[in-house]
Amino acid sequence: MQSVVRYRDARSTLSASLLCVLLVTVTGVRGLCNVSIDIPLAVAAGTTVNMNCKYDLQSETLYTVKWYKGSEFFRYVPKEMPPIAVFGDLGTKVIINQSDAHQVVLKDVQPNHTGKYRCEVSGDSPSFNTVMVHGYMHVASLPDGEPQLLVEKTRYAVGDTVRGNCTVPSGNPPANVTWTVNGIPVNSSFVMNITNKVGDNQQQMTIAGLDFETMQDNFSNSRLHIVCHANVFHLYQEKVEIFLKEERPRLASVLGTRESSYTGNAAKRSVEYFYITAITTLSLCSLR
Ligand SMILES: *[C@@H]1O[C@H](CO)[C@@H](O)[C@H](O)[C@H]1NC(C)=O
Ligand SMILES: *[C@@H]1O[C@H](CO)[C@@H](O)[C@H](O)[C@H]1NC(C)=O
Ligand SMILES: *[C@@H]1O[C@H](CO)[C@@H](O)[C@H](O)[C@H]1NC(C)=O
Ligand SMILES: *[C@@H]1O[C@H](CO)[C@@H](O)[C@H](O)[C@H]1NC(C)=O
Ligand SMILES: *[C@@H]1O[C@H](CO)[C@@H](O)[C@H](O)[C@H]1NC(C)=O
Ligand SMILES: *[C@@H]1O[C@H](CO)[C@@H](O)[C@H](O)[C@H]1NC(C)=O
Ligand SMILES: *[C@@H]1O[C@H](CO)[C@@H](O)[C@H](O)[C@H]1NC(C)=O
Ligand SMILES: *[C@@H]1O[C@H](CO)[C@@H](O)[C@H](O)[C@H]1NC(C)=O
Repeated sequence: MQSVVRYRDARSTLSASLLCVLLVTVTGVRGLCNVSIDIPLAVAAGTTVNMNCKYDLQSETLYTVKWYKGSEFFRYVPKEMPPIAVFGDLGTKVIINQSDAHQVVLKDVQPNHTGKYRCEVSGDSPSFNTVMVHGYMHVASLPDGEPQLLVEKTRYAVGDTVRGNCTVPSGNPPANVTWTVNGIPVNSSFVMNITNKVGDNQQQMTIAGLDFETMQDNFSNSRLHIVCHANVFHLYQEKVEIFLKEERPRLASVLGTRESSYTGNAAKRSVEYFYITAITTLSLCSLR
């Protein structure tokens, strides 16, 4: 009994292992199984990347392993000498003596190597079972420096508005910026990604704004602890923080200093106000 199964564009390991079960039940032949791709979600530009294609041949022999990013860039054929062939721009990045039937090692990856990678495994004749799986990798050029936090002023009375912004240097993709105030997440009032060209690459600087009105509850020990967090995947995780102080009415000056005349007036006015309020309250009471 001979069967030729062609299976293109397997979406995941799940469908690949389903195929394996199907193969065994339909044909009784134990063949290529459990094909999966293992590549990093994100790496920094300039680094070396290990990409793995895992599979279980069971009783089958390997015919080829091919790697694609759009077009084919790597091929492993055990029957050929040498077994490895590389193609195109990505082919020049392959470290051949570290790559084999299960792994491809790429050196000095660049942001334009971001994208969908596919691995295709084929068993030998008579079946030529073929399974293809894919994964996505981001190559990030990380911000060249730390975020910067600016605020309008450092002392705030209850009811004042805190305005500030956090600027993260250029990178690709732009950083995600989040805020916390005394450890509690607060939304940005705006986010801007400003594009500029760095060599051949488009990079983006990010500015995120903070804008909120303070309430008594927000001060903890008369302080506001503001933190700007900037992240590019797990590769760049920076934060910058600032402590703002609560400005309290200066009660001490009532006891008489250079400001005594002004404070005195203010105090007198509030006594009159209290007096009027007291009378109003009294007459309201007598109406009842
Ligand atoms: C495929 O992988 C699954 C889960 O890892 C495992 O249970 C199963 O035995 C594997 N099949 C073969 C044929 O290796
Ligand atoms: C791999 O090849 C490079 C040159 O292509 C050589 O310098 C290096 O020593 C080799 N490494 C191994 C582990 O064979
Ligand atoms: C990727 O960018 C590098 C420069 O960073 C360039 O040399 C190379 O040709 C580019 N490759 C592709 C496929 O665009
Ligand atoms: C960021 O904050 C500083 C200081 O308050 C201000 O001068 C600057 O205009 C702000 N930038 C933006 C884009 O809002
Ligand atoms: C800025 O870039 C971040 C990170 O990629 C993204 O989540 C956000 O939507 C972008 N914001 C704008 C206004 O383009
Ligand atoms: C923050 O933004 C999220 C998503 O846009 C929204 O659901 C939430 O209500 C916002 N929170 C505040 C305090 O504005
Ligand atoms: C300030 O405190 C109020 C009341 O507890 C709360 O609703 C608000 O989210 C706080 N604002 C910030 C920026 O923490
Ligand atoms: C930004 O955050 C979103 C949502 O958490 C995430 O999907 C995305 O990958 C992040 N982008 C970067 C560059 O870290």
